[in-house]
Amino acid sequence: MKTLFQSLALCSLIAMASCTHIPIDPLDSDCDPGTVDFTTEILPLIVSNCAMSGCHVSPDAADGLDLTSYAGIMEEVKPGDPNDSELFEVLTETGDDLMPPPPSAALTSSQIAVIRMWIDQGAKNTDCGGDCDTTAATTYTDVATIIASQCLGCHQGAQPSGGVDLSTYSMVTFAVSYQNLTNTLHGIMQSPQMPPTGAMSDCNIGIINRWVRSGMPQ
Ligand code: HEC
Repeated sequence: MKTLFQSLALCSLIAMASCTHIPIDPLDSDCDPGTVDFTTEILPLIVSNCAMSGCHVSPDAADGLDLTSYAGIMEEVKPGDPNDSELFEVLTETGDDLMPPPPSAALTSSQIAVIRMWIDQGAKNTDCGGDCDTTAATTYTDVATIIASQCLGCHQGAQPSGGVDLSTYSMVTFAVSYQNLTNTLHGIMQSPQMPPTGAMSDCNIGIINRWVRSGMPQ
């Protein structure tokens, strides 16, 4: 919806500017391919790995640090300098300082790399999630990519939240068939909203829904 409004606002800008031929999208440079996007790449990764209940989410946030917003995250980030950013350092610490603490799984090296790159690129509060092909067929790989960044922090390991493990193909198909996974994406039919901090983009929800409707191909 937000994206729709943004495009509408953009359209009226274009209409106004059309006689002077001003180039339009002011956000373009922040959304170049190769630029890490805060809203679609960084925020979900941090929320799902750091903001599970009892950790970095209000009202009882550990260390008073709520990591569910850009402002909260920036308390631990020095733009352009990952090595001086606590948020980055704790991901690779050893012993007691490592985050997320065991038994939660550490972030993968590619997840750590994307956080590093975002900080290197200036740690901007971008939202480049506008492009979405709402008809393209989707594969389990597409779905697994979304789940890895948005859900796995809470839904894997010895005690996955709600008893729902989403770390393999068969577990995801089980969660769709028996644990209301698709309802949780909208928080409907008495299902809790997933992720708990708010629905994912329509684009991501659409990818999962199309995969389910096409019979959950492996
Ligand atoms: C911050 C932690 C967290 C994240 C991130 C998260 N979940 Fe959950 N999830 C929970 C908790 C806690 C429960 C148990 C809640 C309850 O039963 O009220 C749960 C329950 C569920 C359930 C069971 C629902 C039911 O009706 O019993 C499903 C399915 C689920 N989550 C799917 C997902 C999916 C898919 C994602 C990613 C899009 C996700 N979750 C992201 C914490 C999380």
